Amino acid sequence: MKVDDEAVAGLIRRAGRIAVLTGAGISTAAGIPDFRGPRGLYVTRQYDPEKTFDIDYFDRDPSYFFAFARDFVQLVEQVQPTLTHRFLAMLEERGKLDAVITQNIDGLHQKAGSKRVIEVHGSVRNGHCRKCRRAYAYEELKAKVLSQEIARCDSCSGIVKPDIVFFGEAVQGMAEASRVAGQTDLFFVIGSSLTVHPAASLPEYAGGQVVVVNQGLVESASPEWLRIDEPADPFFARIAAKLGM
Ligand code: OAD
Repeated sequence: MKVDDEAVAGLIRRAGRIAVLTGAGISTAAGIPDFRGPRGLYVTRQYDPEKTFDIDYFDRDPSYFFAFARDFVQLVEQVQPTLTHRFLAMLEERGKLDAVITQNIDGLHQKAGSKRVIEVHGSVRNGHCRKCRRAYAYEELKAKVLSQEIARCDSCSGIVKPDIVFFGEAVQGMAEASRVAGQTDLFFVIGSSLTVHPAASLPEYAGGQVVVVNQGLVESASPEWLRIDEPADPFFARIAAKLGM
């Protein structure tokens, strides 16, 4: 169903509780490639996502992942949150937004000032040794990723893996995320093709209206959902103006 700006601004004004599910499309304007968009990793194969984020492949040949991780850590240090990341942080500050649920591992929601961020696919802020489970905080992890071909544990020389959820691993925080979604009366999906489950099922838990802001195809969208097919930043810039933000 198509919808105009005023209708969306009105939904936000009237909503008591809002939550959002974000995907890689919210960060493309910051300079981080997505997966399935026209310049996404599945298209360019700059890093093949099926090898990079597959736990069995990682255990066979971790060097492929660490080549990606070296580039990614440096990129993430440089990039700044987008207008949409900042808009969401402001909505939370105003008491309108309960939580951001994100599939992204780039930490840009926190950088924008969001406080309650449920990272269902983990993040690069922490890591663990695959062998002895020793925990590594970001600075130590970053130093290892940048200086070693394969990040190794100081205690046992096992491989240290950032706490990103790979294919073949359990997602994180789904119980909390589905509870949050169920308590809302307005739920946004922003910049996600809704391809990867179980995160992609979260809008189905939403208590109220679902609004999908995604440029490009979305898998299995319900006809009841409102659909905005354009880049997120100009859209939310107009909505923020209507809300006087
Ligand atoms: P996708 O790349 O599948 O979807 C991103 C969507 O955002 C695409 O439909 C793009 O066209 C759209 N898009 C790009 N730029 C946009 C913009 N500026 N404004 C609005 N839309 C834009 O990314 P995700 O749905 O996040 O998982 O992918 C889900 C998961 O697949 C990822 O978390 C990752 C991946 O495999 C794991 O690695 C476990």
